[in-house]
Amino acid sequence: MRAFLPFLAVALMTFGGFWVSRPPSTPAAPSEPIPWKPPLNRMQETGRRIYLHRCAWCHGKERDGFGLNATKLEIAPADFTAPQFRSTHSKAVLIDWLEGRRVRLAPFCPSWQETLAPAERDAVTDYLLGSVD
Ligand code: HEC
Repeated sequence: MRAFLPFLAVALMTFGGFWVSRPPSTPAAPSEPIPWKPPLNRMQETGRRIYLHRCAWCHGKERDGFGLNATKLEIAPADFTAPQFRSTHSKAVLIDWLEGRRVRLAPFCPSWQETLAPAERDAVTDYLLGSVD
């Protein structure tokens, strides 16, 4: 055993440094490519700010209908990310809704005719129709 110790010391001095200085292992490449999401344009950015201030309480920060108020409402707030919603709601339909020209099932979503300026309604609908995750 004693005869073995100097040998061990020399081996550690020779190869130990190599072992310690190995580069950290690189993270494994993700198996799924990360989907590319187009950035919001300026109009949609403006719309997003209005949305977070006025609409996210019910419709959710992610536009998915899960806002803080959602569970307390008898009629669920629309989920703007649902393909079914997106395929049936053009910009004109959304503007009609915001200006109070479409029939409500419940009074929870007020008309935004008075509260938002035309340019704000325009921006918020652009954001609603913008890309989702
Ligand atoms: C107090 C909660 C609440 C807030 C705040 C709110 N909504 Fe809603 N919204 C709802 C509910 C509930 C519905 C479903 C009501 C219905 O179908 O009558 C809805 C439905 C909608 C719809 C769907 C219309 C359709 O054809 O199905 C649109 C568009 C909409 N909201 C836009 C907005 C926008 C834009 C804002 C912010 C400017 C907003 N809402 C703020 C509760 C809210």
